[in-house]
Amino acid sequence: MHTIYQYQEFLSEYLHSQYETKEPRNLYEPIHYILDLGGKRMRPVLTLMSAEVFDADYKKALPAALAVEVFHNFSLVHDDIMDDAPLRRGQETVHEKWNLNTGILSGDAMLILAYQYFEQYEPLIFRDLAKLFSKTALEVCEGQQWDVDFEERTDVTIAEYLKMIQYKTAVLVAAAMKMGAIIAETSVENANLIYDFGLNLGLAFQLQDDFLDAFGNPETFGKQVGGDIIENKKTYLYLKAVAFSNEMEAQELKTLFSIQPEDSTDKIERVKALFNSSGASKATQDAIQDFTFKAFQTLDQMNISTDKKEMLKAFGENLMGRKV
Ligand code: IPE
Ligand code: IPE
Ligand code: MG
Ligand code: MG
Ligand code: MG
Repeated sequence: MHTIYQYQEFLSEYLHSQYETKEPRNLYEPIHYILDLGGKRMRPVLTLMSAEVFDADYKKALPAALAVEVFHNFSLVHDDIMDDAPLRRGQETVHEKWNLNTGILSGDAMLILAYQYFEQYEPLIFRDLAKLFSKTALEVCEGQQWDVDFEERTDVTIAEYLKMIQYKTAVLVAAAMKMGAIIAETSVENANLIYDFGLNLGLAFQLQDDFLDAFGNPETFGKQVGGDIIENKKTYLYLKAVAFSNEMEAQELKTLFSIQPEDSTDKIERVKALFNSSGASKATQDAIQDFTFKAFQTLDQMNISTDKKEMLKAFGENLMGRKV
């Protein structure tokens, strides 16, 4: 096994070995731009780690790991258009730095590139990877559509929210890990268990993402703090705040989440105060912990050594403490 830092380095090195100067530049430059902004590279690290957990050489998992990361970056470029986001990883988003059409087409190209990395696998593994990937990618689209639909809706439930984040975020984390298992040709049981582990970790991850969107440090977060509040995203924070508030404050929240003022400073401050005073912030932190512990429970059933389980647990615990 290797450290998270080592897996990130392996991925980076492999990514750069794939770069070639191609025309038209306005298609490929934004792709290299967003990929070179880096980010945590959590998903490909999980693919490499999972391959080694099930006793395969991480090198065998590099193309799949990169496919997952390129797909993730595609989804971010399009997500930033949909969320009208100015900042990504501390820099201008692709559609702001270039323009809307560039964001759309470079994103499309990344989705195709992601598929191409699977062509390096032998037919049986290729089939399993491609099948999982297609299913996952479609689910991400479904989740993203719900996310956008919920902006306009006033009757979103916690169950609907959880399903939405499962689709837009958790299934990709889960699939990233299952790909490692597929490449390692481990048992179907192990592959399904690592998928469940990733799914619960992914749910915790998106809850934390929503929390940081409101309460992250603007100096280090890398995205526009308060972006979800500006866009009237019906997050766990919002839904719990409405549920926990008295009638007057609940109504105030609903009204705040139906408007988009020119200057959103006051709206963001007021909403954050209500998230805290209602107990929604605390409830979100609790839910993050619950889903992380649920992920750990699937490890108990897995047929791998204790030190490998500990390593996966450490990864999950680290994620809970993240600030970006
Ligand atoms: C952001 O993902 C999008 C979500 C699903 C929350 P990450 O937080 O993994 O973004 P990077 O890749 O590290 O920038
Ligand atoms: C993103 O959710 C999910 C996908 C990109 C598919 P968010 O919209 O919360 O992600 P960020 O916060 O912009 O990274
Ligand atoms: Mg977004
Ligand atoms: Mg979004
Ligand atoms: Mg977010």
